Amino acid sequence: MVFCWLLCGVATWPTAHNALVVEESFKRIAAHADLITERFYAKVFDAAPEVRQLFPDDMRVQRNKIIELFAFIVNNLDKPDELKQRLVGLGQRHQTYGVHKVHFFVVRAALLETLRECEEIRLTPAERQEWDHLFCFMAAGMGVNLPSFS
Ligand code: HEM
Repeated sequence: MVFCWLLCGVATWPTAHNALVVEESFKRIAAHADLITERFYAKVFDAAPEVRQLFPDDMRVQRNKIIELFAFIVNNLDKPDELKQRLVGLGQRHQTYGVHKVHFFVVRAALLETLRECEEIRLTPAERQEWDHLFCFMAAGMGVNLPSFS
């Protein structure tokens, strides 16, 4: 199986322009964080019901954590060492949660669909493309391409 994040140019991402687009659009996303994270996880669980049991029943804490993580990444795109450290640790923990490579396809699709459908934030196609690149960049940083990540 070919993994998207090998193909989407993550090696050269982000340029200063990419970072600016993501930072600006994140302000709109963060303003509707509750709505977006709720819809996002609903899509993940619809597409892959088997992963529901990996998460706690009450998703409120998790929804906050993922927004905080995105805020950290988006605000530190010019600090590769800090990003690397954070993403490597995140990837290692995900293996202990029972997450597999294939789940990243589900999560990527859920994220892109949520952003596309969200009338409240009205991301442009160019902005959504940067979010796709951001997702691939993060997945790669989490070590999803490594053979050790099953
Ligand atoms: C770029 C992709 C992803 C990001 C940024 C992300 C982010 C996070 C964050 C910030 C946490 C909080 C705990 C921690 O820091 O370790 C977390 C937990 C978790 N994530 Fe992810 N995640 C991603 C992909 C996935 C995928 C593909 C799955 C598979 C369904 C998944 C399942 C989980 C589970 C099961 C937990 C633990 C929940 C708990 O026990 O409280 N994540 N994730």
